[in-house]
Amino acid sequence: MTLQRLVDQDRAEIRFRLDGRELAARQGDTLLTAILAAGEGWLRESEFGDGPRAGFCLMGACQDCWVSVEGLGRVCACTTLVAAGMEVRRS
Ligand code: FES
Repeated sequence: MTLQRLVDQDRAEIRFRLDGRELAARQGDTLLTAILAAGEGWLRESEFGDGPRAGFCLMGACQDCWVSVEGLGRVCACTTLVAAGMEVRRS
């Protein structure tokens, strides 16, 4: 799954790292939006063996979007804002 940004294209661009690779995001993006809009397609592997996951509810209720952020630990990507220089790992 990827997201295509249709609005807010004038917000400031910031850089963060996902699994060691630098990606661009827009100030105010959630991690979920930043990762999927960058074309990454998934957030975590399912522990039930049903493939990669890309979130479900997008509002902090389903817990289907866990990622790890250096200094913060595991966070929900859909309720955590991306920040410049953030180091993010998929699990
Ligand atoms: S997508 Fe449901 S909690 Fe993040």
